[in-house]
Amino acid sequence: MNRLAGKVAIVTGGATGIGEAVSKKFAREGARVVVCGFPEDPVNDVVKKIMDEGGEAAAYVGDLSHEGVAMECVGFAVTTYGKLDILINNAGVFPVMELIENYPTDAFEYLLKNNIRTAFFMTKYAVPELKKTRGCIVSAGSESGKIGLGENAPYGATKGWMHAFMRGIAVEQAKHGIRANCVCPGAIDTAWTHKETGPMKARHEEMIIDATPMARRGTPEEIANAYLFLASDEASFVTGALFSVDGGVTIAKGAVGKEAKGEAVAKAPQGELHLEHALDGASNMLRGRDDVVHTPAP
Ligand SMILES: NC(=O)c1ccc[n+]([C@@H]2O[C@H](COP(=O)([O-])OP(=O)(O)OC[C@H]3O[C@@H](n4cnc5c(N)ncnc54)[C@H](O)[C@@H]3O)[C@@H](O)[C@H]2O)c1
Repeated sequence: MNRLAGKVAIVTGGATGIGEAVSKKFAREGARVVVCGFPEDPVNDVVKKIMDEGGEAAAYVGDLSHEGVAMECVGFAVTTYGKLDILINNAGVFPVMELIENYPTDAFEYLLKNNIRTAFFMTKYAVPELKKTRGCIVSAGSESGKIGLGENAPYGATKGWMHAFMRGIAVEQAKHGIRANCVCPGAIDTAWTHKETGPMKARHEEMIIDATPMARRGTPEEIANAYLFLASDEASFVTGALFSVDGGVTIAKGAVGKEAKGEAVAKAPQGELHLEHALDGASNMLRGRDDVVHTPAP
């Protein structure tokens, strides 16, 4: 506990999936957390649950891919809590699984908007504040940004962009004391990797388990644990890292997960967080379609 005592953090996409776990984990560790998300996301509920547990959090609702909204979000954090120490660029979308020859152009544009523009604007407006606190950025990379993703090649490419973006920031901002890293998850137990809640089909689900030596999805909390380390002062000499938390999928060859099925390693740990929105993420292209909306907490 208290590994982030005194810190102020923004978590984009902080109300569902991995983001909910990061918001709740950081609050438990003593951070004051600005939880951000689309108007359709359960942002206010996550803030309420953090406060109910004795933590400190505030809601910022809006589409962060718009420059003015991202700028205002950073301003909101500083006005509310007096400073900014940590930016978590977690917001992202995973709209379809499709071969490139059939890949809808609007799905590609949706990826650019939410996976790239959001991280660009949030980073641009957070850095001047992070210079004052010698703060840090941790962003959502992915195993697919390292090795690519068949049937969703443009998504993997947005994550490759994120890796290079964070490394560039790490180099240019090191002299100001700012660190920048990526957490690179494998398949995680969120809306995106289940056929009932996301674009993956049964055969994709089977493939991701078989390709993972640990023969399971990671939990949102296992990913939040890595965010916690990289955002904390324990990682004071870590910058430009692409920190894999992927059950071994990027180093595996073939369907090695089949050998671990039924073994103890294939059973996910319980964790300590109370997560209620793991499967409530954006898995179609309907979210964030409204006009620019931004609603700082009352
Ligand atoms: N789930 C996985 O298997 C996996 C694997 C590797 C990397 N990741 C990365 O982790 C991050 C979180 O993924 P998740 O699985 O938890 O998905 P999720 O859909 O549960 O969470 C993403 C959140 O970001 C929000 N969001 C997206 N664009 C936004 C915008 N412009 N403004 C405000 N909010 C916005 C969404 O509404 C959603 O709440 C993503 O960046 C993703 O690329 C996920």
